[in-house]
Amino acid sequence: MQISAPRGTNDVLPDQAPAWRALERAIERLCAQYGYRELRPPIFEHTELFQRGVGEATDIVEKEMYTFEDRGGRSVTLRPEITAGLVRAYLEHNLHQGPQPTKLWSIGPGFRYEKPQAGRYRQFTQWDVEVFGSLNPAVDAEVIQMGIELAGRLGLEGLVVRLNSIGCPRCRPAYREALKAYYRPHLAELCENCRSRFERNPLRLLDCKEDRRFVAGAPRTVDHLCDECREHFAAVQGHLRRLGVAFEVDPGIVRGLDYYTKTVFEVTYPPLGAQSTVWGGGRYDGLIEELGGPSTPGVGFAMGMERMLLTLEKSGRRLAAPEGLDVFVAPLSPAAGDAALELLYALRRAGLAADTDYLGRSLKSQMKLADRLGARHAALIGDDELAAGTVSLRDMATGEQRSVPRGELAALLRAELGPPAGGRD
Ligand code: HAM
Repeated sequence: MQISAPRGTNDVLPDQAPAWRALERAIERLCAQYGYRELRPPIFEHTELFQRGVGEATDIVEKEMYTFEDRGGRSVTLRPEITAGLVRAYLEHNLHQGPQPTKLWSIGPGFRYEKPQAGRYRQFTQWDVEVFGSLNPAVDAEVIQMGIELAGRLGLEGLVVRLNSIGCPRCRPAYREALKAYYRPHLAELCENCRSRFERNPLRLLDCKEDRRFVAGAPRTVDHLCDECREHFAAVQGHLRRLGVAFEVDPGIVRGLDYYTKTVFEVTYPPLGAQSTVWGGGRYDGLIEELGGPSTPGVGFAMGMERMLLTLEKSGRRLAAPEGLDVFVAPLSPAAGDAALELLYALRRAGLAADTDYLGRSLKSQMKLADRLGARHAALIGDDELAAGTVSLRDMATGEQRSVPRGELAALLRAELGPPAGGRD
């Protein structure tokens, strides 16, 4: 019996991996330029971290977590997102005692037991960015602009930035009451999910996917903000305008995690269809305290790497040229085998991308293979070359061939090809 991959997981195949690495490299460069440092938390944590961090009344905690008891009897969970783990690490390693704000980034897998479809998986990959320790609205704008900057560098157009403010513990209770007062007469008409949200998490009523009838007329968070939240929201918008980031204020953006305060945002690429949110985030000024730390504000976002790659593909952007070999070493007789291997090792030591045939193929099949491997040159060693200490160096594009002393091949190719393959962008 053949075993297949679990539903909702993906294999990144060799033809796809270069695009992943190119995206990761662009992100690494951007983060360094913006003063962010990488932190890699583990991919499983104690279950309580997500229950308290993401929130008990969220879809994620209620229905989607990969939670299990380990052999020591502790409940652990494969992380459904990266923010909570970064907060835990920030506190556990006393990063809050260093200079603030602490600006962090991370890339890695997340796990949610969702119904798989295009752009929605059970294992996915997030690029996560967090800033701990600043209330400054310029920081909200910085993290929103970062993703836009990345998209711009990759040549993407057509992304839509939606912005909202959902207030703070001071102004939200009154808003929540206004929302409930609006929905109360319609309770019987709401979907089952929303009826349970009504008491437990009324803001999520605005995010109902099943029935949007009542959403348009619902009270808006932006009309119920306290002075501090209103000023903060206006300042974020001012900074975004100065940064040249186009956005729309969308009172329907409430986000699916409980920790947000004030700014929330989502960036969509509409051609992706149902799962068009490429990234989203916002401010969470109560989360760090909720997780046992000192009262410390925070703001950040996470981008779905798969969705970003889908966006690039849909818009016809190619991130990376296929990787190829600098040279394919082709032994043409059994006697040439050892000399071919010696040459292969010398070429690799010189930093060239080189490979050979291990199956005793004919010249014709070796050239076919060299083509498939994207080799720019082939170095042929038959009995004549073996005796003369040379190779016949074939240019794979033109088919031209010339004789080159074996000992000089590495230097000659290095001079022609420039920096070694491992260092090429
Ligand atoms: P989120 O909106 O749940 O936010 O996820 C962020 C992004 O991760 C989504 O926009 C999407 O691109 C990707 N994503 C989420 N679930 C899946 C899935 N099942 N399949 C594929 N992609 C997915 C958060 O996770 C927050 N921690 C973001 C944040 C960071 N807020 C503040 N800091």
